[in-house]
Parts: sequence; structure tokens; C-alpha cells
Amino acid sequence: MSNQPILLSKALASFDALWSPRIVTRVNDYDVRIAKVEGEHLWHVHDDTDEFFLVIEGELQISLREPEGERTVVLPQGAVFTVPRGTEHKPSAPSGAAILMFEPTGTPTVGDRHEEIPDHVDATTGHDLNA
Ligand code: NI
Repeated sequence: MSNQPILLSKALASFDALWSPRIVTRVNDYDVRIAKVEGEHLWHVHDDTDEFFLVIEGELQISLREPEGERTVVLPQGAVFTVPRGTEHKPSAPSGAAILMFEPTGTPTVGDRHEEIPDHVDATTGHDLNA
């Protein structure tokens, strides 16, 4: 982990992989992760943790399966949203986006339960920024 300021634009320029988060820093037991995304992720659920999203560039959509039914929230650049623990969700970005996530260290990107993982999705707990 760096002891210097990290410019998110530079951090994002340092990798190309989609749906493959990089850990930019840690806060107590939480990771601050950034990812480039395009197309669809997969339906999954984190049983024990909320998941925070901030859109740095582009537009992110998050589909949610809630007790009342299914809906999709649209997050433009600059928007934040927290998916509550236990809520099945599927992020997508038809035109591409760069996002920042805040979640406990060790949280798998595909959740604790998920549908089949497509080839374009990296099932990971996050990679070091410079790895
Ligand atoms: Ni998630």
C-alpha cells in the first residue's frame, strides 16, 4: 500500500482489465477498490456486507432484486449508491464506466452466492494496484 497520494486518473490508466478491481488503499478493515467496467457483471449477493459504489467516469447501472420486485438504478458520473447486504444485484455499464467501491477486505467480487461466472468477469477479492 502506497504512503503517497494516489491520483485516481493515473491509477485507472495503469491497467486495462475489465471487471477486475484494483485496491488503491485500505481504511481500517476496508478496501477502496477501483475498476473499469463495460457490459454486464453477474447476479450475485453479499450475505454479510453492504457494498458502496461511486461512479468516477461514465454511467453505471445496478439491477436489484428486492422483496417488492426487480428494479435498476442508474448512476451517472459522480453518483454514489450502496447495495444493502443480502440484496441480489447485477452491475452493468452498456457504454463503459470507471467505478470506485468500498467494502470489507476479502469481499469477493462475485459475492457469496452467484450465477455462473462469465469468462469476462474476474472472480477476485481485488488485486494490488501495481501487481
Ligand atoms: Ni456486489
